[in-house]
Amino acid sequence: MTLQIHLAPSLDELGEAAANAVLARLHDAMRPGRLPVLGIATGSSPLPLYQALARRRDELPQLRAFALDEYLGLPAGHPESYAEVVRREVVEPLGLDGECIAVPDGAAADPEHAGAEYDAAIAAAGGVDVQILGIGSNGHLAFNEPGSALDSRTRVVQLTESTRQANARFFSSLQEVPTHALTQGLGTIFAARSLVLLAIGASKAQAVAAALQGPVTPEVPASILQLHPDVTVLLADGAGAELSPELLDPELLKSGTV
Ligand code: GLP
Repeated sequence: MTLQIHLAPSLDELGEAAANAVLARLHDAMRPGRLPVLGIATGSSPLPLYQALARRRDELPQLRAFALDEYLGLPAGHPESYAEVVRREVVEPLGLDGECIAVPDGAAADPEHAGAEYDAAIAAAGGVDVQILGIGSNGHLAFNEPGSALDSRTRVVQLTESTRQANARFFSSLQEVPTHALTQGLGTIFAARSLVLLAIGASKAQAVAAALQGPVTPEVPASILQLHPDVTVLLADGAGAELSPELLDPELLKSGTV
């Protein structure tokens, strides 16, 4: 098992280190007849990574990508739907082929069926090679809230009030934040060959410590990281403040060994 945890001294360096990890794994995954598969996360934490990848877009291989999650009930084209966020923050700046990027269909007539089809599409693409992740301050991964089964698959979930409040900053009022979402399950995420988690800010410190050094439990969905064979964790601005010092290796980050 490889769990590498690094404290980045700045958001730029967080983004560069994450880009090194992602690019290395995408290149390792290149095989004749199959495109490497990137797992995309939304939220503010991966933005320094996407900015670094946009600067280094000539290093990106041709790839396929699958987003983690989508709100239910937003009209098509809503600027805060994850389909739009992914288009704006990832597909366009990185110069990706929009036809090769999938986002769960939050407007499907039967979203549970759409979830099962989404898992099947990931499997048909050969699985995710490197999955980018953020973490909620309650320890959620994608929209897998506390209590999610560790082997859950892509499905409809109800958002907690704390998640709706955290995401209300993107909407004009709390009422506008959807109550449900279609999210890859913890089992779906765990099946990715490698995971790269980014967390920024002291508001994530407790969740990061619970995920990486507490018990592995559905109450802390991100604690499944402890069971995965290839995890890179990149932290900045106090997100690592509650971790045991022996877990951290800032020297590795400085030397670019991620
Ligand atoms: C949302 C997303 C998650 C993300 C989390 C944290 O709930 N569904 O995928 O990790 O927010 O977001 P941020 O990185 O903006 O703190």
